[in-house]
Amino acid sequence: MEEINVRRAPLLDLELRVPGDKSISHRAVLLSALADGVSVITGFLPGEDCLCSVNAMRALGVEIEHPEPTTLIVHGCGGKFTAPTHEIDCGNSGTLMRLLTGYLAGQPFSSRLVGDASLSSRPMNRVIIPLSQMGAKITGQGEKGTAPLEIEGAALTGIDYQSPVASAQIKSALLLAGLFARGTTTVTEPVQSRDHSERMFAYYGLAPQREELKVSIAGGVIPEAKNFQVPGDVSSAAFWLVAAAAQPGSHLMIKDVGLNLTRTGILGVLVRMGARHRELIETGANVEPMGLLEVWGGDFHGTTIEGKEIPNVIDELPVLAVAGALASGTTIIRDAKELRVKEADRISVVVNHLRAMGAEVEELEDGMIIQGGRPLHGAVLESHGDHRIAMAFAIAGLFAEGETRILDTACVATSYPGFGVTLERVLQGGEPSTPVFAKVLGYGEDVES
Ligand code: S3P
Repeated sequence: MEEINVRRAPLLDLELRVPGDKSISHRAVLLSALADGVSVITGFLPGEDCLCSVNAMRALGVEIEHPEPTTLIVHGCGGKFTAPTHEIDCGNSGTLMRLLTGYLAGQPFSSRLVGDASLSSRPMNRVIIPLSQMGAKITGQGEKGTAPLEIEGAALTGIDYQSPVASAQIKSALLLAGLFARGTTTVTEPVQSRDHSERMFAYYGLAPQREELKVSIAGGVIPEAKNFQVPGDVSSAAFWLVAAAAQPGSHLMIKDVGLNLTRTGILGVLVRMGARHRELIETGANVEPMGLLEVWGGDFHGTTIEGKEIPNVIDELPVLAVAGALASGTTIIRDAKELRVKEADRISVVVNHLRAMGAEVEELEDGMIIQGGRPLHGAVLESHGDHRIAMAFAIAGLFAEGETRILDTACVATSYPGFGVTLERVLQGGEPSTPVFAKVLGYGEDVES
C-alpha cells in the first residue's frame, strides 16, 4: 500500500506549475468527443479520473489519440455516439458519472455505469430525479440512487429546473442532457457554482444563455471542434498556497494556473487570514482565464467561511481546515454539508484527523469550528481513499512535530500526478532528494517544467 511520509519543512520559497484542471479536463474531453471534427486538447490532466473520461468516450465510439500525457487528439463523433459493448467504469469520478449520465440519458441505446467503492456510495438521485423529469429512464440502487446505474435511452424534453443544491455537476449533467432534448433546458442554482460548462459551451459554439444564476441551452446543437488549452488546477495549487500562506516569510509563485473567479475563492480566504497575494491573467480571458499567482505568508489568523463562498471553495475546504488549525484564533466553516457526500465524508474525516494531530475541533453537521494555533504533532492517518484528504494532511504534516504518515495514498493519482515530486521539493527547501513516498505515485514524473 502506498503512503506519504512527511516531517516539518523549511520556510517555503518555491516556483512551480500544477497539472491541468480536473473539472475542465473532463469537460474538454466530453465536449470535443461530441463535436464534429478534430480537437486538440493540451494541458490535459492525466489523472485517473480524467483518463476514465477518455475511456468512456472511447467506449462510445470516439477515437482519441493520446500522444503525450497532457495532449489529446479527439476525433469527435459529430453528435452520434455508438452503443457501448460493455459497462462504462467511472472509477472514482463523481463528475464523470454525473455528466455522463446526462449525455447517455437521451441516446438511442442503453448503457450501464459503474464506479469504485467510494463512487458507488455517492448520491446519484440528484441527477436521476431531474433527468427523469426530462423523460430519462435511469435506475440506481437503494434510496440514494447509487451506482451501478442502468440507463435506458429515451426521448428527452427540456425542463426548467430549480436545483436545490449549488452543484456544477448537477447543472452540467442537465445541460449536457439538454443537448439531446427537444426544446430548451434551463437550470437555476441557489448560489453560483463553478461555471466551466457555461464558458466552454459558449467556446464550443453551443450558445448557452446566461442570466444571473440561470443557464439555458437549446437542444439539437452539436459542439464545433475546437483546440483547447486546459489551465493548471487551482484546487491542486491550493495545497501549496496554504503551505505558503501559513508561514510569515514564505513565498510561492504558480505559473499557468486557472484563475476563473468561480474557483479562486481560496485566495480571498487566505488574504482574510493574513496572507498577501498577486494574480495576473495572461491568457484565456474569454474562456478559462489562466496566468500567474503569487502568495506571501503573513501573520496567520482564523476566519469564517460560509454562505455563498462555500461552492467556490468546496474542494479546498479540507486544506483550508488545516489552514485554520495552523492559524491563531478561531476558524469556522459552515453551510458546507455537501462535504459529507464527497469522495469521503470530509467533515468527519477532517475533524478526526485534525484531532489526531493535536488540534481542537468541534464537528458541526455542516462544517466545523477549529480553535487554531495549538502545536500539531505527527500521526498515522488513513486517506479513506480520498485524494484531497491525503494531500491536505500531507500539508498539515509539514507543520507538525515528528513524522506524519498518510496511508493508502494511491488515490492522489486521481487528481494530482506529480504531487509527491513537489512535496519532496518543499521538504528539501528546493533541492532534489530521496523520495518521500514509499512508492512513487501516478506517472512518477514531474509535470512541472
Ligand atoms: C465539480 C464540481 C464540484 C466539485 C468536484 C468537481 C465539477 O462538485 O466538488 O470536485 O467538475 O463539476 P459539485 O458541483 O457537485 O459540488
